[in-house]
Amino acid sequence: MQDQIDVDALTRDEARQRLEDLAQAISRADAAYHQADAPEISDAEYDRLKRLNAAIEARFPDLKRADSPSEQVGAPPAEGFQKITHSTPMLSLGNAFEDADIADFDRSIRKYLGLTDDAPLAYTAEPKIDGLSLSLRYEDGRLVSAATRGDGTVGENVTANALTIADIPETVEDAPVVMEVRGEVYMSHADFEALNARQAEAGGKTFANPRNAAAGSLRQLDPDITASRPLRFFAYAWGSLSAPLADTQNGAIRRLEGFGFQVNPLTVLCDGPGEMLAQYRRIEEQRATLGYDIDGVVYKVNALTLQARLGFRSTTPRWAIAHKFPAELAWTRLEAIDIQVGRTGALSPVARLTPVTVGGVVVSNATLHNEDYIAGRDANGQPIRDGKDIRVGDWVQVYRAGDVIPKVADVDLSKRPGDAAPYAFPNVCPECGSDAIREEGDAVRRCTGGLICPAQAVEKLKHFVSRAAFDIEGLGAKQVEQFFEDGWIREPADIFTLEERYGSGVQQLKNREGWGEKSAQKLFDAIRERRDIAFHRFLFGLGIRHLGEVAAKDLARAFGTWEALSDAADRAAAEPAATEGAGREALANSPAWGEFLAIDGVGMTLTQSLVATLSQAHERESIDRLVSHLTIEAPEAQATDSPVAGKTVVFTGSLEKMTRAEAKARAEALGAKVSGSVSAKTDLVVAGPGAGSKAKKAAELGIETIDEDAWVALIGDA
Ligand code: IVH
Repeated sequence: MQDQIDVDALTRDEARQRLEDLAQAISRADAAYHQADAPEISDAEYDRLKRLNAAIEARFPDLKRADSPSEQVGAPPAEGFQKITHSTPMLSLGNAFEDADIADFDRSIRKYLGLTDDAPLAYTAEPKIDGLSLSLRYEDGRLVSAATRGDGTVGENVTANALTIADIPETVEDAPVVMEVRGEVYMSHADFEALNARQAEAGGKTFANPRNAAAGSLRQLDPDITASRPLRFFAYAWGSLSAPLADTQNGAIRRLEGFGFQVNPLTVLCDGPGEMLAQYRRIEEQRATLGYDIDGVVYKVNALTLQARLGFRSTTPRWAIAHKFPAELAWTRLEAIDIQVGRTGALSPVARLTPVTVGGVVVSNATLHNEDYIAGRDANGQPIRDGKDIRVGDWVQVYRAGDVIPKVADVDLSKRPGDAAPYAFPNVCPECGSDAIREEGDAVRRCTGGLICPAQAVEKLKHFVSRAAFDIEGLGAKQVEQFFEDGWIREPADIFTLEERYGSGVQQLKNREGWGEKSAQKLFDAIRERRDIAFHRFLFGLGIRHLGEVAAKDLARAFGTWEALSDAADRAAAEPAATEGAGREALANSPAWGEFLAIDGVGMTLTQSLVATLSQAHERESIDRLVSHLTIEAPEAQATDSPVAGKTVVFTGSLEKMTRAEAKARAEALGAKVSGSVSAKTDLVVAGPGAGSKAKKAAELGIETIDEDAWVALIGDA
């Protein structure tokens, strides 16, 4: 099946046989992909089989089989969920916890838009429903698909299940031709209790809270089960639209209501932070009697033109924020304190607790942050909890807010056992015995063992194979631990030599516990597939301290190639200011460091960490070994069809139609790089009134310079 086939040379008998083989191979691949969630062949190979099948059928139409794979296109899989790529990503919301955060939110929006303090600026305020989000796509007034949020880009197709929910209309009248309605699927308290009672009676699974029950009920392979579960839906947002719903958020919500969707009755318009906080209090007061779970209040800028101007940060809109309710609390006994060693060597104390229910979830572990926190002081040596320390045996207060890891917040000294001793934080690594040192200004004590520390090495490897990094299917945390323990994999490069080092890798691997011939072969295929890796995934996978996913993308976009980035890091390390250990300011002013610091989202802390890591010989050698196995793919230029994609733009002088921040964000969203200074690399200068030396320099260098109106005309509505 793998070989190239000359369709024109096939005899009828050969063609019949081929079609039979192809039908089998394709249906097997379908089953592996959709039902077992474990593809056996690559997408490219799958497409090749489908194309071959179609070509043979085209030549011998009468041999087309009743179960022909070409008829199966788009058919829902018998089991497992198909994936749906959201036409516009499903994002999350930034969080606020304090009243003051709301005034800050309003201020930052005014600043971004260049509005004065007294210019009118309205918001909506509505409950934040604690369920799971769902995107419903209507075409010509009919529901054509429903997808869960998934990772925000790709979700699960739960159309058949969504159609069983009474609050979700199957058809809508007078709606835009394409309309994606987004909102929250949830379960009421009463329905949740009744469902759990029914489940318990039938000896089935009970759910920890209404949100889990809603998620478990929506994600059923059998829509009849979903139909038997009392799910509800509130609409509060939208994705792609062929025509706008209204001019304002509130207007759009009213339109959705008109189409027959449930919208939350506590949604109101507010003229600013004062009214927003008043609505927050009203909603908080009603929280206990609403009959369904909410975990805060969401504020959204009302004017949709302003929402569009404000746009998005990497994963959250600038025009909305979630004001969370205070965390939920419970008291329990602290049984032990364990120390975990992370991938950057940080020693993290973890509280082992007598299990306790906090807001519907059983908690038996909680973070204790660091040694100062246990001792009862903050990073500046000031007392916290009135200076009360935390001891094993103490009666402690545990809290959790949303999805955040539970924390130990307080201690009840009146219940402290007489023999409880102050906790002595270890100064050696519990995993490798190396010294654990706290550098000045660092709240965290770190193991100095580096790669010799097994805990650090394993955590680094786990990070390396994780979803946002190399995402190697079949190689999860458990497998990494197993391979590490046996000495098969010690550093990332080892993953790519696993097959070759173990002779015929499959033969050896399949003899290990937990591995068979198929899973071994699949693992090696998955590893091979990742030899081609996107630059930002590679960077993120290195597990460098302070280098998160977003910064990895920023760096990848700015440098384009690993060579360019590592050369720049080498230049930065060689800078006299760096070798002399000069302060941050001297570094910031050096050209090589400036290359990093000029990138939006890349600051001094990250640059120092990156430069330090890449100049450590053993780290660099380990990375070089890894690189030798990889083809690192340059990042795709964003929005390649925009007139400024890939160009370096400098804004100077004052802008009148938008603020600097907005201009920069718009330009970057269109794929341009925005720089603060004019150089030979600059492609375009946008000069407003008062432009001085930068415009002059641009003229000297012969760089195209335009005014703000020309800029707006250039980017248009893009
Ligand atoms: S607006 C672009 N409004 O909260 C952002 N989200 O933490 C669109 N959620 O993923 C979301 N109630 O699942 C919005 N009234 C509400 C909401 C709400 C609950 C969920 C939603 C989102 C998550 C973000």
